[in-house]
Amino acid sequence: MAIGLDSRDSSRPGALGAALNRDGVARAYGRWAPVYDLVFGPVFARGRSLAASAAERVGGRVLEVGVGTGLSLPAYAKSRSVFGIDISAPMLEKAEARVKRLGLRNVERLAVMDAERLELPDESFDVVVAQYVVTAVPNPEAALDEFARVLRPGGEIIITSRIGAERGLRKAIEHALAPITSRLGWRTEFPWARYTTWAAAAPGIEIVERRELPPLGHFSLIRMRKTA
Ligand SMILES: C[S@@+](CC[C@H](N)C(=O)[O-])C[C@H]1O[C@@H](n2cnc3c(N)ncnc32)[C@H](O)[C@@H]1O
Repeated sequence: MAIGLDSRDSSRPGALGAALNRDGVARAYGRWAPVYDLVFGPVFARGRSLAASAAERVGGRVLEVGVGTGLSLPAYAKSRSVFGIDISAPMLEKAEARVKRLGLRNVERLAVMDAERLELPDESFDVVVAQYVVTAVPNPEAALDEFARVLRPGGEIIITSRIGAERGLRKAIEHALAPITSRLGWRTEFPWARYTTWAAAAPGIEIVERRELPPLGHFSLIRMRKTA
């Protein structure tokens, strides 16, 4: 399961010297695709449902980044228009099968696309949702820049994300596990400062909510608004 290493983000707060790269992540999720729902279905179900509810409160057209096997898609209203993208074709094949099986007419399109280079027009979505994906992207800040670009003023970015421990034994364990989890396709260490530092520098973006999520509060739901 070896993937290539990339040191581009090693100067970011809490970043590791050896980080993820795009092709390696895509290959890792290609391997996860057949068993993904079994392993990660129930464990993130609550976060997915809360993220979809937060998106529904904004309404309009939704971009779901890292839509994976489409576990979140049935949670959106029938009247919603959801555009799902993912770097992994095998994950998206599972999502397409789900859309067909459940007859989800609210799914506008599913496409292979890189979160860091969205082939989508500026200000074309009311909500950008990214569930358990930002910590799997090689350059999270580049992806966040893209989320802000395609979001209309007044819209929201809704993220569910692992947040690493700031100190103590848990932080030490997360750092020790990092070389293993990067080969599985995500980071365990990911300080909250990475979001706040990005938001402070991003024009017109404010963090409006951070809510702890199960399991064990190691994850958070984060809402950011783009000011008009
Ligand atoms: C942990 S899974 C989460 C999937 C789904 N959001 C869920 O809640 O089950 C992370 C997903 O992000 C995708 N991903 C990783 N890097 C990506 C990138 N650069 N661009 C788009 N998708 C990416 C992976 O292929 C995978 O499907």
